[in-house]
Formats: sequence, structure tokens, C-alpha cells
Amino acid sequence: MTTALCQDNPSDDATKEKDRASTRCLNQDNFEFCGYSLKIARNMGGNLGVSAYVWDAGLALCRYFEKENINFSGKKVIELGSGTGIVGILVTLLGGAVTMTDQPNILQQIEHNISTNVPSASRQRLKVCSLTWGEDHTNFPADYDFVLGSDIVYSSVTYSSLIRTLHYLAKQGTTIYLSSAFRKGNGSLSFHEVLLPEYFNCLIVDRLEDKDITVYKMTRINARPEDWFLT
Ligand SMILES: C[S@@+](CC[C@H](N)C(=O)[O-])C[C@H]1O[C@@H](n2cnc3c(N)ncnc32)[C@H](O)[C@@H]1O
Repeated sequence: MTTALCQDNPSDDATKEKDRASTRCLNQDNFEFCGYSLKIARNMGGNLGVSAYVWDAGLALCRYFEKENINFSGKKVIELGSGTGIVGILVTLLGGAVTMTDQPNILQQIEHNISTNVPSASRQRLKVCSLTWGEDHTNFPADYDFVLGSDIVYSSVTYSSLIRTLHYLAKQGTTIYLSSAFRKGNGSLSFHEVLLPEYFNCLIVDRLEDKDITVYKMTRINARPEDWFLT
């Protein structure tokens, strides 16, 4: 179900007003996962492009976590390309200590959805940070239990940066879940079938045939001398 929320919240503070202007027209969708009702707003007025949608690959990853009852309690998690934030929000509600990341102009949308869905007591386990793949990953620790990404494999110009970021963030023992929708002409299939297996052990753990979405579980192959250029 989608509802249009038009915020009208005048403020004296010019900066705050500018921020509000960019979130003034929000579409809200409701989802149910793991017993939680999630209200996810999408900022249709902020030129957020692909980030202003809840993608089927994100829903597939949430459904996979629900189906497999993955235990995130007390686990350290980072999500790449959070978009609306639905995956990271669910994982926070499931007990994870989550860092949700995306490009700087997307963070306000994520923060809005956190404020709607995550009780204040759980927010101390949650961070929202700017992380552009291949550029900022060394600002983060490399000690995560889980690295997550849904529908982040869609533009071949980002693939080498994304591999560098994934490789940096994943230590031995980190589990990466990537949920990807395969679209023709963007090399997403060969990214998963050829490039990633050079650096990661990759296992298909779920498939939605009708939408051509695949969920991969990955772990890092032991660091080799030839991988030095990735960090
Ligand atoms: C198709 S959306 C998926 C959003 C969300 N994960 C979902 O499943 O609904 C891709 C996300 O990746 C982010 N993204 C794309 N290129 C990026 C890059 N180079 N660095 C960081 N984030 C990037 C976009 O801003 C966007 O939010």
C-alpha cells in the first residue's frame, strides 16, 4: 500500500527549512517482515534516482532473513547502498548493531525511515554514514560479522570499486549477503559468476525465478599476495 505524505512543517531556521523542502513529498509503503510492520517513505522530490524506490531485491533479502531466521542479535553489520533503508532497519530490529551507508545525498531519507521504524532504545545500535564505494571504505573498521547489499550490482562503472569495498570490509569469518536482480546489458551476471568468485567463496542461497533475483552468501577467500591492490 502506498500513501502520499505531504509534510508542511514551517521553520524559522533556513537550513532546516531547506532540508525539509527536500523531503516534502514522500510516498510511504508498508511492509511486514519477521513480525514487524515497516513504514518506508520514499523521497520523490529530492532527485534521489534509484534510491527513491524499495527494490524487489531488498524485499527478497528481507524475506530470506525471515525464512531462514538469521540471527543478527549482537552482530556487527554494515549495509552498502541502503537506499530507503528497509534492509538495515529490519536487521536493527532483529538485534543487529548496524551501520547503514549510502552516498551523502541519500542519508536524510534513511534517517527519516529510521525515525519512523526504530524505537529510540534501539537507535544507539544504529549508525548512518556516507560511504561511496572505492573511496571511503577505509574510514570504517574491517571487523563486521555481516556485510549486506541489495540491488547494488547494477552499473558496471561501479563494479571494481564495489569489489574493493567488499574486500576491505570483509575479514575472515565475515558473511556477505548480496541480493541482486539480473538485468540485461549491465554485466551483473558476470560480476557475480566471474569477478566475485576470484575473491570470495560464493554460494547461491535463494532464487526468485519470476523476478530473476538471486541471493548470494559469500565469504572472503584467504588474502593472497596478488590481492594487495584491492585495499
Ligand atoms: C538500486 S538502489 C538499491 C537500494 C536498496 N538497497 C534497495 O534494495 O531498495 C542502489 C543503491 O546503491 C547506492 N549506490 C550506487 N552507487 C554507489 C556508490 N558508488 N557508492 C555508494 N552507494 C552507491 C545508490 O545510492 C542506491 O541507494
